[in-house]
Amino acid sequence: MELPPRPKLFDFHGVSMIHYFTDNWENIQNFQARPDDILIATYPKAGTTWVSYILDLLYFGQTAPERQASLPIYERVPFLESDFHILPPGTELADKLSTSPRLIKTHLPVQLVPKSFWEQNCRIVYVARNAKDNAVSYFHFDRMNQTQPEPGDWNNFLQRVMDGKMVFGSWYDHVTGWWEKKQTHSKILYLFYEDMVEDTGRELDRLCSFLGLSPSAEKKERVRRGAQFDTMKKNSMANYSTLPIMDFKISPFMRKGKVGDWKNHFTVAQSEQFDEDYKKKMKNTTLQFRTVV
Ligand code: PPS
Repeated sequence: MELPPRPKLFDFHGVSMIHYFTDNWENIQNFQARPDDILIATYPKAGTTWVSYILDLLYFGQTAPERQASLPIYERVPFLESDFHILPPGTELADKLSTSPRLIKTHLPVQLVPKSFWEQNCRIVYVARNAKDNAVSYFHFDRMNQTQPEPGDWNNFLQRVMDGKMVFGSWYDHVTGWWEKKQTHSKILYLFYEDMVEDTGRELDRLCSFLGLSPSAEKKERVRRGAQFDTMKKNSMANYSTLPIMDFKISPFMRKGKVGDWKNHFTVAQSEQFDEDYKKKMKNTTLQFRTVV
């Protein structure tokens, strides 16, 4: 498949973006959410696919086995703002979903979420990941994904992270923006990737209680096992191997799935500079991450 050149970043309502996520903006803004829709919101590379897959297994794992065998995760859980031209736009995929609830993925910062999600008082599951691992994961993703801007070398990439010149904008603004919203909006569950790695079962319980679900212990265990990193990595319906825009020879989508991989990438000097900058950017928030575990 002939792939178009890599996209360039531009400013979109104060957020760095690429055209794949703004081309369909009118339909995105006017998207009609339903009260039982569940929005999975994340900064890219924070654990979106993991939580999407967990939710899909929880709701549809047993009732729709054919879905598990033949429908890739990006069609089960449409990416709302995406318009990659090789698939129908996310809004269209979401409109066509016949499931109830509909599971919908977004990377939009809180201020750009279509207003109908708030009007319909939808449940929203937000996942955040510590800045350093998130940056490393994003770097490898941009290397292998033709629809992302050219990442350049690691040092330059890291500078861009600190400057917020990333697709979907600044990590700092994203995680704190959603955190502030959560303080006044009870229908947001704010999860951390590090907590999920530490004890997936415990976070699954939190998720179920937020969603008002009470699955049997056996079902929960089935979901937990089905969504383990090694199992998902082997599963072509969960690992993005069916999408031609990604080159797994450069880096697989399911890459490491670990906390602390940043230590294999940051030099001591980079880490110190990052930490200093981090303190300044995060000084006004109560949001705390466990950077080193
Ligand atoms: S995307 O493109 O924004 O939707 O990517 P996203 O799914 O948010 O993030 C991808 C990273 O999540 C890791 N991942 C997992 N970690 C642990 N367990 C499970 N089951 C799991 N599934 C996905 C994936 O490996 C990417 O992280 P890195 O650090 O690159 O490995």
